[in-house]
Amino acid sequence: MFISYRCLIAVALTAAATTGLSAEEVATHRIVGVAGCTAASCHGGKSLIGGEAAAWLTRDVAHRRAYDVLFNETSVRMAQQLGLNAAHTDTRCLACHSTTASLHGVQHGERFAVEYGVGCESCHGAAGTWISRHTQRSWRSLSPDSKSALGFRDLRSLTVRAESCVACHVGSPRATVDHDLIAAGHPRLTFEMSAYHELLPKHWDAAAERQRDPVQELRLWMIGHGVSAKAMSDIALARAESAMASGAKQVTPDLAEFDCHACHHDLVEPTRGRPTLSNPLGSPRWGSWTLAPARIAVRQSQATFGQAGTTTDTSLTKLLNLVNQSRLGTTPAEALRPAAQQSSHDLAAWSRSLEFMSADPGQSTQLLHRLLAIESDAEWLPTWDGQTQRYLAITAAAQSARRATGREPFSRAGREETLAKLLRQFSYPPHYSTPLNFRLSDVEPLLRDLQNSVEQ
Ligand code: HEC
Ligand code: HEC
Ligand code: HEC
Ligand code: HEC
Repeated sequence: MFISYRCLIAVALTAAATTGLSAEEVATHRIVGVAGCTAASCHGGKSLIGGEAAAWLTRDVAHRRAYDVLFNETSVRMAQQLGLNAAHTDTRCLACHSTTASLHGVQHGERFAVEYGVGCESCHGAAGTWISRHTQRSWRSLSPDSKSALGFRDLRSLTVRAESCVACHVGSPRATVDHDLIAAGHPRLTFEMSAYHELLPKHWDAAAERQRDPVQELRLWMIGHGVSAKAMSDIALARAESAMASGAKQVTPDLAEFDCHACHHDLVEPTRGRPTLSNPLGSPRWGSWTLAPARIAVRQSQATFGQAGTTTDTSLTKLLNLVNQSRLGTTPAEALRPAAQQSSHDLAAWSRSLEFMSADPGQSTQLLHRLLAIESDAEWLPTWDGQTQRYLAITAAAQSARRATGREPFSRAGREETLAKLLRQFSYPPHYSTPLNFRLSDVEPLLRDLQNSVEQ
């Protein structure tokens, strides 16, 4: 896509008019703000190409109102419980509910307005250093590394794309939704890249993208798990390093990183009441939502994309075992640091390597078979976390199979009903912030039904 020179002039003029500095000086390390991208000659046009801003403003409602929710009843109650002045001015909340998000250490430009919530630069990168350059013809010949050095995120890379979502939807050493936030009323984060990507209303040509990569869902599922597990490894690493810096020997992960249902069942909204501690002395599983399913994804990468995940499997397993084998995850910082570092490093390399591997469309159906097979039962945790992740994996594989082969992967009549029944097992009842009465024995027969209905 090439944007007209008028756009460049519009950007340069606004910069000069508002500050009296040259465009180049103003440009350095700033979040420009949504208003800087929406000129009619830039991304504010009427067609999809050139009309990305209009498309984003009208379609991506969740991100557009991410700041607004900081005024709602839940946020007000949370702010009270956490002793904050107000949610909408607190950096802890603004980190993920506005464009300050993943962009710490940069300033805001003159036209920045926090009200836009999760705006363009939350995903595309702080634009101060590249906004004028990216409209020039020479931009196209810049290498991806030079662009990224300027702060531009090339979201065509699915790893970079997942990293941008994960920074807010899973967390980072700079911002997490910890157990304090959850106990005060924040929803638990249960991100899975393929599902969230499907849900995100698109302001780009998503059909063309899928045509170029018919197994995009499957790739997003794997890469998303790699990037999410890397974020958890980075959080563990940062915690180990800060413990060591302060002379502490042991590190305890935050309760929000464990399987909630090991301690709680049936958390009711909004009066929730005291938690029912069904297993106060047991040892809940750490990383049940992120690290455990990532290990399964890693183990499937050889058969699906011809890319071995053996090294990554080893380091991820080591990290998981280290924490899970100690009581409530209390781990020696000196052991945790190298384990988390290795896992982070290997997951990053593994995720990137999957971008360029081609997969036969038939591989989606093969993976679907493996995910539904009885032998696979033991791999997934027998809890809501484990089974919900399995369901999401099945959905991603089925969707890829459907799109890549043009055929419905499930053959029998009644499959819609089975899928709907499964989904009901995982849904939260009204006014609950957890599933109610989840039972593995209700889920497994439904999985067997699906297994019998996959086309050979
Ligand atoms: C690590 C990032 C992160 C931080 C920090 C964070 N949030 Fe959130 N918040 C999210 C995400 C992501 C969602 C959407 C969850 C989903 O739907 O999957 C969300 C959802 C919410 C919701 C529910 C919105 C709705 O539509 O019902 C409220 C309310 C909320 N956050 C308030 C807050 C407040 C108040 C703070 C600060 C005390 C805060 N958040 C801090 C990431 C964060
Ligand atoms: C939630 C993350 C997110 C937000 C917010 C967002 N984008 Fe995007 N945008 C993407 C992704 C992912 C793509 C697809 C990858 C690509 O083409 O670069 C994309 C694609 C684009 C493209 C390329 C379209 C094409 O077909 O090549 C433009 C231009 C764009 N976005 C502009 C904007 C503008 C302007 C805003 C704000 C008004 C915005 N985006 C907000 C994630 C986001
Ligand atoms: C700067 C932080 C941030 C980034 C980056 C971000 N999100 Fe979000 N996202 C949020 C918050 C906060 C909410 C909840 C806002 C609300 O409730 O209105 C949200 C909501 C959503 C929702 C709606 C969820 C629901 O329960 O309906 C989807 C889907 C979503 N994001 C997908 C993505 C994807 C995919 C990406 C990456 C391409 C992404 N997000 C990047 C912060 C972010
Ligand atoms: C190791 C046990 C343990 C785990 C794991 C755990 N919690 Fe808790 N939770 C507690 C205890 C103890 C309390 C009461 C003290 C407190 O508020 O911190 C509590 C309080 C809460 C509350 C507030 C209830 C109220 O009425 O004030 C909520 C909500 C909550 N937890 C949700 C979760 C969610 C969601 C998860 C998983 C992401 C989780 N917890 C993981 C032990 C746990």
